[in-house]
Amino acid sequence: MSYENLIVEQKGMTQVITINRPKQLNALNKATIQELHEALDAADKDAQTGVIILTGSGEKSFVAGADIKEFADFDPAQGKDLAAQGQEKLFTFLQNLSTPVIAAVNGFALGGGLELAMAAHIRVASDNARMGLPEVSLGVIPGYGGTQRLAQLVGRGKAMEMVMTAGMIGAEEAQSWGLVNHVTTQEELMALAEKIAGKILNNSGNAIAAAIRAINANYEDGVDGYAKEVEEFGNCFGTPDFKEGTGAFIEKRKANFRS
Ligand code: HXC
Repeated sequence: MSYENLIVEQKGMTQVITINRPKQLNALNKATIQELHEALDAADKDAQTGVIILTGSGEKSFVAGADIKEFADFDPAQGKDLAAQGQEKLFTFLQNLSTPVIAAVNGFALGGGLELAMAAHIRVASDNARMGLPEVSLGVIPGYGGTQRLAQLVGRGKAMEMVMTAGMIGAEEAQSWGLVNHVTTQEELMALAEKIAGKILNNSGNAIAAAIRAINANYEDGVDGYAKEVEEFGNCFGTPDFKEGTGAFIEKRKANFRS
């Protein structure tokens, strides 16, 4: 599958999806959101892909936000549609994938760009990364889940400040806030993301998918996360991965889930 705005590369069982609109600092226009939906859906369904790494092309930017030029003359109904469709197609969709997604934040992650990174399961950043939700400086608010996920990740007080000031923070600060898990140099960023991917790939894909569903359950209205955990835990029993994992422990060998 080839895309106009994405580069997709397979590295063993890790798929790297690079948003490739460097002249626009990888801003998310409608076409890119649609392509990301398709690429992520295909990767999630592909048995040969166990981890997805999402990054931006060029040295400067992960994603500098939604494409401002595309929505500058929208009316309220179109604005609502932009947010609703984007959330459904990409942001909520990504959060609920069975395949773990690591966002490798390699520069500006602003507005929809930070919202995209926050929808991913894990975030790592290069030391030149700059993160923020500058939407109120444009007269709007974050619309791709930012008001919810930022508060979940860093707490309400820091989220309020970041959104109200429209300011940016650097990678080190983002790490101290818990917004990104690790920071490294630009040169080492992909190697770090791939190293984390490698550790994930040692484990059961089936169990990882169940863990994603159980952890996400805490953030869904009307869902009892503890009950979801019990259900997902029970469903693991009897699966081939459960037999392999427990069998390998008892036989004192390394489990092989991915052959
Ligand atoms: C469209 C964008 C863009 C964006 C950058 N570009 N960000 N185009 N949408 N979000 C384009 C610029 O217009 C310019 O193209 C080119 O990329 C390079 O950008 P410069 O501004 O020249 O680069 P620089 O001076 O280095 O500044 C980098 C920057 C700045 C600080 C990241 O570009 C910036 O402030 N961008 C906007 C960030 C932002 O407000 N993001 C939130 C968007 S709203 P041309 O052709 O003009 O030279 C959002 C809402 C999400 O994300 C929710 C929706 C429902």
